[in-house]
Amino acid sequence: MKVPETSVLNRMNFSGRSLIKLLDYTPAEIRSLLDLAAELKADKKAGRPHRYLEGKNLVLLFEKTSTRTRCAFEVAGMDLGMGVTFLDPGSSQMGKKESLADTARVLGRMFDGIEYRGFKQQTVIDLARYSGVPVFNGLTDQFHPTQILADLMTIEEKKGHLKGINFTYMGDARNNMGNSLMVGCAKMGLNFTACAPRDLFPAEELVRQCRLIAAENGCTITLTEDVKKGTSGADVLYTDIWVSMGEPDEVWEKRIALLKAYQVNRTAMANAKSDAIFMHCLPSFHDLNTSIAREIHEKFGLPEMEVTNEVFESEQSVVFDEAENRMHTIKAVLASHMLGA
Ligand code: CP
Ligand code: NVA
Repeated sequence: MKVPETSVLNRMNFSGRSLIKLLDYTPAEIRSLLDLAAELKADKKAGRPHRYLEGKNLVLLFEKTSTRTRCAFEVAGMDLGMGVTFLDPGSSQMGKKESLADTARVLGRMFDGIEYRGFKQQTVIDLARYSGVPVFNGLTDQFHPTQILADLMTIEEKKGHLKGINFTYMGDARNNMGNSLMVGCAKMGLNFTACAPRDLFPAEELVRQCRLIAAENGCTITLTEDVKKGTSGADVLYTDIWVSMGEPDEVWEKRIALLKAYQVNRTAMANAKSDAIFMHCLPSFHDLNTSIAREIHEKFGLPEMEVTNEVFESEQSVVFDEAENRMHTIKAVLASHMLGA
């Protein structure tokens, strides 16, 4: 299917590129991805077909579990007319019987694009290098770039703009979400605050790099241990789970001790602007309706963790709009990087 003349896609030049991390993209490039996502979202809502990648095939390689990222890539790929294959850790030879370089070269012969979720950032880089087709980072220990595109889209939808927004991230600020949100905010002109214990501040080198980018884009990067200071005047309060995929169970005790003061609760929200929104990449431990939450409750007595159920379920919470936007933004990434590649 031909791309309409009016489409944002016609003024983008990402063909054949891989999305390894947002640091590699200019603010104008991120802007165009968000514009394309908005266009594709409007198309989807209006029932206008956009099967621009008919005849192409995408493979999704998952070494960690997923609901949103997997489903977003599958639905986006299918809406664009592609064939989509899902491989989980148990159903491919990668890493056990076959090296990454060999797997990448095989997949590159059969597929036009590869999504990867797993541990090392280097794996995404190597997959792109050896496969010869665009590779999309669906989360590594270091970065989660497609999540940030959905987050930026959601903030823009709710607040009408990105520049000058006061964005506060509470929790483990040196995990994939803390790192990527700091980069995304610096690139798009949002004032980023990491409100976390010092031990969980993002790495100094990344902070230094983001401060340089932020200065170019008229915004700031602040690191603070002070919850009152970190949350006051915020337009957005964002949090993530306290222990990420791949971390050993033993870290829970120490992490809870470090982070319980950084829970997003009624007091934190009241300290932010009165029209502040609450965001979370999900999944979230906001109640006892999961087996892990019940285990933690039994061991440590916490009925809710990074966010209270009250805030999660409140009018200010936009988490499900945010989750939906994963699909529209991932579709923009696939269309722009795979068209003509
Ligand atoms: N936010 C996110 O990446 O969710 P999944 O782990 O379900 O993909
Ligand atoms: N920091 C979390 C993000 C999940 C989307 C993790 O890596 O498990």
